[in-house]
Amino acid sequence: MDKLLITGGKTLSGTIDISGAKNSALKLMAACLLTAEPLQLTNMPNLADTRFLSQLLSSLGVEVYWPKGASEAHFNAAQISSTIAPYDQVRKMRASFNVLGPLLARIGHATVSLPGGCAIGARPVDLHLKAFEAMGADIVIEEGYVKAAAIRGLEGAHIVFPFPSVGATEHAMLAATLAKGETVLENGAREPEIADLANCLNMMGAKITGAGTDKIRIEGVTGLKGGTYPVMADRIEAGTYAMAAAAAGGDVTLQGAPVQALGAMVDALRQAGVNVDIGEGTLRIRRNGTALKAVNVDTRPHPGFPTDLQAQFMALMATADGTSVIRENIFENRFMHAPELTRLGASIAVRGQEAVVTGVAQLKGAPVMATDLRASVSLVIAGLVADGETEVSRIYHLDRGFERLEEKLTGCGADVRRTGAEDG
Ligand code: EPZ
Repeated sequence: MDKLLITGGKTLSGTIDISGAKNSALKLMAACLLTAEPLQLTNMPNLADTRFLSQLLSSLGVEVYWPKGASEAHFNAAQISSTIAPYDQVRKMRASFNVLGPLLARIGHATVSLPGGCAIGARPVDLHLKAFEAMGADIVIEEGYVKAAAIRGLEGAHIVFPFPSVGATEHAMLAATLAKGETVLENGAREPEIADLANCLNMMGAKITGAGTDKIRIEGVTGLKGGTYPVMADRIEAGTYAMAAAAAGGDVTLQGAPVQALGAMVDALRQAGVNVDIGEGTLRIRRNGTALKAVNVDTRPHPGFPTDLQAQFMALMATADGTSVIRENIFENRFMHAPELTRLGASIAVRGQEAVVTGVAQLKGAPVMATDLRASVSLVIAGLVADGETEVSRIYHLDRGFERLEEKLTGCGADVRRTGAEDG
């Protein structure tokens, strides 16, 4: 398995182009199942996860044309030949579960494996299933599979989520586009990817208002059409490079960053003493010699500080002046990077859902292991700052969500190399 070798201590300077958002692309791809007409997605990120979902879609009968490395992908679900998503596929990538709602809405039935837990938490899908039941679906769980049926079609419903789940909000919205009558989603998530999905669905002929607020209305339609839609820019990728630049020091401009979606991250960086200049789709991050200040953050649903940037912020705080308390409120087990950062010399004490980070003057390179996507990139950030060489293994986690990471970082002067050495 590949590893990354990072020689730390170089400041970063230059421009990084931000790719399309993984977490938006995965839901937009699932939307192709709602229509018999072709859906073309542009600004597609070439990632292990998006490639994986395109294979699952192919296995359902979707014609996929997405040449290697291309940023435009074509999906044609004129013929759906299977409504089954097997365990092996859903287990490997949870977002595969999102084919359930569109298949149920368009075909009237689907059998999709339950995803099971993952490294960062139990991650149940009960809210997804309750939403489909409220829309009139019969749901049975048998042998690890969700068998869902709505033979006479789904019906609009008033759904109040007990807390704002991103996945359940998106999934219910996808299915409700083809339900009879109006669906209202209350206390839904407000993440920017939800508005992106609603914009794409509206382009396809859906009638959705309020996406991006906690009350979304979907007036069901009898059919959707195809079209072309650009995937929004990845706010988590942008936030990650912002933190890399802040941690390593230097002057980096993030080109094509979704600046409106990054408010909480920008506030935290500014409090830490980093210069952030916001332009038209650009974010310029500068830190030249000034010390980082310790800042406390609490992860929250959008517009709060995103859980997907928590690990990266912890790496940044590892060398800040003072002590910062980082509280993870979304997932119950999302501190697995803490012991790995400690291997690099960070001082971190985890107490339940809080990590107390006491800044140290210098990190020191060491072999470390990636445990999940965002955890792995936090180790890369720490490696950029550490003295000497850091070897990050199990970087297949990284390849799930960061497109051309080494190229983007080395383009700004970092020393990051990929090796094909065997992982132990
Ligand atoms: C999405 O996951 C993202 N994944 C995650 O990104 C992100 O961390 C998360 O939203 C929060 O922003 C994708 O978009 C593919 P949730 P999702 O439903 O939809 C609990 C990354 O690194 N919950 O908002 O699964 C759940 O266990 C990934 O790119 C239920 O209890 O997140 C969690 O504690 C990781 N029942 C909380 O809600 C449910 O039915 C929030 O989860 C659904 C969720």
